[in-house]
Amino acid sequence: MDKQEARLAIVNIGQLATLAGPRRARVGAEMRELGLVADGAVLVESGRIAAAGRRSELRAEIDRADAVVDAEGGLVTPGFVDAHTHLVFAGNRAGEYEQRIAGVSYQEIAAAGGGIQSTVALTRRATEAALLVEARRHRDWMLRGGTTTAEAKSGYGLERETELRQLRVVAALEAEGPVRMVPTLLAAHTVPKEFAGRRGEYVRWVAEELVPEVAGLGLARYCDAFCDDHAFTVEETRVVLEAAKQCGLGLRLHAEQFRPGTGAELAAELGAATADHLEMVTEAGLIGLREAGVQPVLLPASVFCLSRAEYPPARRMIEMGLGVVLATDFNPGSAPAPSMAFAMSLGCLAMRMLPSEALVAATINAAYSVGMGGDVGSIEVGKRADFLVHECGDYRELAYFAAAPLCPRVWIGGREVTL
Ligand code: NIG
Ligand code: FE
Repeated sequence: MDKQEARLAIVNIGQLATLAGPRRARVGAEMRELGLVADGAVLVESGRIAAAGRRSELRAEIDRADAVVDAEGGLVTPGFVDAHTHLVFAGNRAGEYEQRIAGVSYQEIAAAGGGIQSTVALTRRATEAALLVEARRHRDWMLRGGTTTAEAKSGYGLERETELRQLRVVAALEAEGPVRMVPTLLAAHTVPKEFAGRRGEYVRWVAEELVPEVAGLGLARYCDAFCDDHAFTVEETRVVLEAAKQCGLGLRLHAEQFRPGTGAELAAELGAATADHLEMVTEAGLIGLREAGVQPVLLPASVFCLSRAEYPPARRMIEMGLGVVLATDFNPGSAPAPSMAFAMSLGCLAMRMLPSEALVAATINAAYSVGMGGDVGSIEVGKRADFLVHECGDYRELAYFAAAPLCPRVWIGGREVTL
């Protein structure tokens, strides 16, 4: 990482997407408002945004800067906030990928003991140091693509030691920087093999022992659970998430990925921050989310990577006024796809989100969904200076150049990141 200048000016910004707006997740038509400024400039002081706007109006501040960066007419946006990842795991599942291409389904592989369970086996055997090396590699892929904040879940341990080890790896990534990490406990990812036939006992252990311990250690800010077939029922999910709520953790929920159900209603009832996936969500579920202010986190890369056709109904969600978020779901099974720009391309092409809506969903709305909307997600005075200087000059190109290696220059906390 480079040195941090006391006062830094970014000038010659062809298009500055500030994402300035109300201090909450954007809904409806607000999702198309990017706070665009032509010929912009950004001033950074002590790692925070000191000013952002038209260059002509910031001349005096630019003259006082200690260092000036030329954006060469490019686009500047906030850093991406990836609100749903499973980036700490050992090994990969390229073998299952090949099986799926040959016609075996994700659920069939899981039912035969593969899927999440195969990553659990590898992750349990990995040392903390080895897991950190792998996680850092995944984090660096994300960072190269412009992710400056990432939520990260456990869920490949399903036993005390490995769940804690995964969360300590997230804490180590947060401590070493530069990407800001938001840790989530996902011990209720699936029932581990050794609890086969005793699922109630596993759920009770997670709720009564692991959740309080993890909360007490400060190793997670959120608790998540996978509420679906081959995972947990709504009632089991409720037991885990109620315990988490009592321990002061925020709630997230994998809901309605593979079959219609009432996970979204549960998220609404418990006041969860987010309900994620929602490929098969019902209209009643959507109404529940809106009434409770739960943000839907859409993960189109996991639909694409499973060769499925059911994308979540993003247009309906925007029409209904939900604070839609886009995230990668990066994981070794359903979404080995760490790029936020790719998630945005799929958001546009497969779910008919406009490029402006996709950018809002990947930045400011994502920031609110991880409880950091007051600090990151837009280029506004007082916020942390986490922003990207892109090669392209128009925000629509971020999603338009699908799967292109668009590697922006990245600033986090006012420091340029060099990889
Ligand atoms: O979000 N749905 C459950 N969990 C992950 C997949 C995890 C895996 O396949 O390893 C998901 O898609
Ligand atoms: Fe997930």
